[in-house]
Amino acid sequence: MIKQAIIPLAGLGTRLLPLTSVLPKELLPINGKPGLEYILDECIEAGIKEIIFVISKKKNSIKKYYYNDTFYRALIKKKKDKKIIHEYNKIKKIKKMIKFVYQNSPTGTGDAILKCRKFIKDNFFLVLLPDDLIIKRNCSLSMIKLHNKYKASIIASKRVNKAEVSRWGIFNLKKINKTNFLINDVIEKPTIKEAPSNFAVIGRYILPKKIFKVLENQKAGKNGEIHITDAIRTLLHNENKFLGHRFNGKYLDCGTMKGYINSTLKISKL
Ligand code: G1P
Repeated sequence: MIKQAIIPLAGLGTRLLPLTSVLPKELLPINGKPGLEYILDECIEAGIKEIIFVISKKKNSIKKYYYNDTFYRALIKKKKDKKIIHEYNKIKKIKKMIKFVYQNSPTGTGDAILKCRKFIKDNFFLVLLPDDLIIKRNCSLSMIKLHNKYKASIIASKRVNKAEVSRWGIFNLKKINKTNFLINDVIEKPTIKEAPSNFAVIGRYILPKKIFKVLENQKAGKNGEIHITDAIRTLLHNENKFLGHRFNGKYLDCGTMKGYINSTLKISKL
């Protein structure tokens, strides 16, 4: 069973400036609710029991959001408002499930995941990239079901416009059917010429614990970052089974200003 999830949250959020000069992008509201809460709802609904947040000192307000007991208690004392009590209880419940790990220099998703090594207990764990919202269907849940069936690592995927392949990790794949495929290889942000397909990596991964051994020795890749994609690539070259999952939900890219605005519009119409 997959019981633990990692959420890398130490990114600088430069694509969402000036908002992110004072607020972590994951706390920006999308239709009245921080983006991070959608990701947490997905995890909890999928049966995850423990969530590791990888933050940086600059993003301590994410911790404060869940550790604001004094603020809530003082408010509740003054006004016995049901809504405030409800919000506080929700936060208290989530607080019990999360652990914080620090990544003070943003050196990539691979490095963020490696920092969680000592907390991971089982052979497989889930990773969710918070820029990628998937609504209408629970992508993590369908990936966990797939993992339980095939005992393989799983990565979410969707087809993207050929002209935009260099924004994504891109798969080389075989044996494709309507919902899944076998992954042969993966390249982080290839040029159009290098791209083996237009099936992109979307930020949901079920990864094996042995990826930590690979990450330990991994050199920086594109833009000087330690990418999880490169560690996956090493595992693929060593005969590890990875399946791509063509999820059914609707994908919303919240990592860019245009995408962020669009996600509020889309969610408000649900
Ligand atoms: C990251 C991954 C990339 C993946 C993308 C999905 O890129 O490195 O492989 O396709 O997330 O959103 P980033 O958005 O951090 O540039």
